[in-house]
Amino acid sequence: MTTKTTGTVLDVDSLLADRNVRTILCCGSGGVGKTTTAAAIGLRAAEQGRTVVVITIDPARRLAQALDLDRLGNTPLEVTGTDTSAGGRLDAMMLDMKRTFDDLVLSHTDTERAEQIFSNPFYQSLSSSFAGTQEYMAMEKLGQLHQAARWDLVVVDTPPSRSALDFLDAPTRLGSFLDGRFIRLLTAPTRAGGRAYVRMLSAGMSMLTSTVSKLLGAALLRDVQTFLAAFESMFGGFRERAEQTYSALKDGQTSFLVVATPERDALREASFFVDRLETDQMPLSGLVLNRVHPHRGGSLGPERALELADELWPEGRRREGVEVAPREMTANLLRLHAANRERSLHEERQTSRFTAEHPDVPVAVAVAQAGDVHDLDGLRSLGASLAGG
Ligand SMILES: Nc1ncnc2c1ncn2[C@@H]1O[C@H](COP(=O)(O)OP(=O)(O)OP(=O)(O)O)[C@@H](O)[C@H]1O
Ligand SMILES: [Mg+2]
Repeated sequence: MTTKTTGTVLDVDSLLADRNVRTILCCGSGGVGKTTTAAAIGLRAAEQGRTVVVITIDPARRLAQALDLDRLGNTPLEVTGTDTSAGGRLDAMMLDMKRTFDDLVLSHTDTERAEQIFSNPFYQSLSSSFAGTQEYMAMEKLGQLHQAARWDLVVVDTPPSRSALDFLDAPTRLGSFLDGRFIRLLTAPTRAGGRAYVRMLSAGMSMLTSTVSKLLGAALLRDVQTFLAAFESMFGGFRERAEQTYSALKDGQTSFLVVATPERDALREASFFVDRLETDQMPLSGLVLNRVHPHRGGSLGPERALELADELWPEGRRREGVEVAPREMTANLLRLHAANRERSLHEERQTSRFTAEHPDVPVAVAVAQAGDVHDLDGLRSLGASLAGG
């Protein structure tokens, strides 16, 4: 079987063997195989002797079962059924953003205050459904796992989103929203407090606050105010915290893998992401080109295959008898070959655009497996494929 790539080849096994690499982040646009790649890479690293934890986000149900994730929550547990003969191990966890947020609050305040925060409706919606919270919490979890010092490699899956860039942007956007002028204005009464507040309350501001309170409802406004005041006293600014966590990714021990399928939109997203990492001086290891259909079966091109098929058995010709005649069967196989060949040529064309724009980005190819990847064997063969096997 041949798999053609035009760029330089990403040596996945060298990456996994590099003990200086302590974090691998799998990013990419929606549905390209981030979760599967993170799991496959984690398993391969563990079976080669590293002590690994994989943070997965919303894995498909059967994959979750294969990683024993259906029986645990927000903390890592060892995956059973892996080969530990090289001295490594694989732990896995499923990120629960609400619980990670709750734990973060608990670790910074006493139980009573934490309870007040937990029952705050604004906190409840922020921690469970706000855009950006999942990305923010994935970074928090990464920090926690490194602090625990039980693993020498943390592999991080990233949340499903249309754009790969959301992973880098969402937390800061969330931070800017929470630390922004609008919110500051809303929270001014609690911040300034007492008489100072009365003094600074100009007629304009009071009008604004009352308009907002009419729009949002006074109760919600109060919730936002009390939550943010409590939160800020624990951590300082949200945005500051997001920025700190992200700058830790430049520490030289982190490596980004951008995952894409050989399709135009996914590769375009990957391309934006690669540019952005470069601008932000974040370390990229390479592109994982996932679900590639390699071409098999020699040099017979799709046009010629269709010509031959038509000569043998024109499409639509009536069938002779109940049994499918050998000529018809051969023609059908030639048509199947033509369709497969056409697909892999299309994939190669899409990929070559990316490699032309980014000739220096190493590429690892993972072939499309026959079915979904939902068990350890499937992950193992995906890992082997990625490593060039
Ligand atoms: N190389 C492959 N061959 C066959 N199936 C694959 C391959 N890679 C991933 N899949 C399948 O594709 C589907 C999507 O994969 P996955 O959940 O890993 O994508 P994702 O990028 O994490 O998606 P989301 O953005 O929704 O989180 C899954 O059903 C998975 O089993
Ligand atoms: Mg996923």
